[in-house]
Amino acid sequence: MRILGLSCYFHDAAAALIDDGQLVAAAEEERFSRVKHDFGFPYRAIQFCLRHAGIGGDDLDYVAFFEKPLLKFDRILQTAFASVPKSQVVFRKSMTAWMLDKLWVKARIRSALGVDADRILFCEHHQSHAASAFFCSPFDDAAVLTVDGVGEWATATTGVGRGTSLALDSEIRFPHSLGLLYSAFTAFLGFEVNEGEYKVMGMAPYGVPRYVDKVWKLLELSADGAFRLNLEYFSFQYSATRTFSPQFETLFGPPRAPETPFFTDASGYPSYFGEKPANYARLAADNQHYADIAASIQVVTEEILLAMVRGLHARTGMPRVCLAGGVALNSVANGRILRETPVTELYVQPAAGDSGAALGAALFVQHQVLGRPRTFVMDHAYWGASPDPDATRTAATDSGLSHHECSDEDALIDRTVALLERGKVIGWVQGRFEWGPRALGNRSILADPRRSEMKDIVNTKIKFREPYRPFAPSTLVERVRDFFELEDAGSSYPSQFMLLVVPVRSDARDRIPAVTHVDGSARLQAVVQRANPRYHRLISAFAQATGVPVILNTSFNLRGEPMVNSPAEALNTFRQSGMDALVIDRTIIQKEN
Ligand SMILES: [Fe+2]
Repeated sequence: MRILGLSCYFHDAAAALIDDGQLVAAAEEERFSRVKHDFGFPYRAIQFCLRHAGIGGDDLDYVAFFEKPLLKFDRILQTAFASVPKSQVVFRKSMTAWMLDKLWVKARIRSALGVDADRILFCEHHQSHAASAFFCSPFDDAAVLTVDGVGEWATATTGVGRGTSLALDSEIRFPHSLGLLYSAFTAFLGFEVNEGEYKVMGMAPYGVPRYVDKVWKLLELSADGAFRLNLEYFSFQYSATRTFSPQFETLFGPPRAPETPFFTDASGYPSYFGEKPANYARLAADNQHYADIAASIQVVTEEILLAMVRGLHARTGMPRVCLAGGVALNSVANGRILRETPVTELYVQPAAGDSGAALGAALFVQHQVLGRPRTFVMDHAYWGASPDPDATRTAATDSGLSHHECSDEDALIDRTVALLERGKVIGWVQGRFEWGPRALGNRSILADPRRSEMKDIVNTKIKFREPYRPFAPSTLVERVRDFFELEDAGSSYPSQFMLLVVPVRSDARDRIPAVTHVDGSARLQAVVQRANPRYHRLISAFAQATGVPVILNTSFNLRGEPMVNSPAEALNTFRQSGMDALVIDRTIIQKEN
């Protein structure tokens, strides 16, 4: 039984193929098209999945789509009619998009894959999200919570999964949306919606949540976690370009100018911003104000999620929770759920956002629709394409740089550790690329976390990012407790997928300054040997050499670009950046000897 799941036309298009319930391949379209957050029909991701399995479109039993376009269309029509004439522009724009593309999904799938119409199934958006978490989890039964911007009508759902059945029994409906509340602040703070949410999360620790009372004016939260937005503060219901209203600005003041350099007294002025401006003090104070707003919306978001989880627990009594939807990528909130609610185990799938709903739709058909037994647990994130050996050789030769293919893995690990110890920044391309937005040691940039200057070096040479974006630590699952306040990372999938922010132990912060955030926290990756043997081995060898079982890990891409896929793309990014060495499989390419 082969089922292909698809998501597209909103953000992060993707394809995922399951065969008899086992995931075979899954990838986001952006990795192939090289368009960040590509939402177009995922032709390339589909081709990759089929090629990987050695099959054609006519070998598929079903194709599952991640939402129901007609229901969504109904929501857009009703919302637009409710706010005429303010919604005229957005109405015209979205009608064009819907008439050209979105209503004809079935025809598009048929022409791309040659699948009969009765083999194409549509799942509700939040059912897809819920299935992507529960049916990938190791739990026989669990409570399920999905939270995002919006699907068809639902913006959050709760329910229970037992065995092969998944029943969602309550929902919050558009326009009341935690995702859209957070996105309104994302836009207010000068970032792109659906892209800059994690920047708000990174900015928050630089601020003091002094505007929490004001943020609470934007909504009403009931004891069971249900909430309603006060719509006078928002304009996403009727505008395609603005998410917050003039009343919102009356409450919080003028919005931050888009993409303004961010720095405060706590962050200092990074050298890679250039010369310190004459009005530094005033700009730092302005940024501090906006960091305080970021801290405030982050705290309120966490409180709402905690209330939702507590409400879910009170209703179901279930200690295990599966979480999905874009809001599940809020790894600070995930940490608090585990520390501050009765929930003892949390499962979040690495592609918790809309791309992951492609996989969720396929699993929903497999288990909920067809009733087939569960045999799959997603315990690693490596479901993409591998570097082709011939392409690796070509890239090495074409580079015109010094390159060397290590005779075995021992030599590869030794040489890489030696480079890291000498303060070199390394591009690391190994095996199948990751499913979801995090680099988990297969398309990563690696460096020595013991050097406090490394954050600046990586930012200056490669990422050109702002100082509020912390770099993550990858550590051995067996050694997590030595450095981080997290018990039993072995059973914590969120920490293995870098979806959990935890405190760095106070006695360890000085030892790994480059991966400790300003508030003493870190977005941890606990590396399990079975999931990624080579990366686990690299960290072990680094620990043997230095006494520190931690490596700085950030995604292998330039600012604004998707992560690299092929050896040629890796080489291209390597050339354009200040990285010192590029390791593809066992080949090491260096800019100098
Ligand atoms: Fe979603």
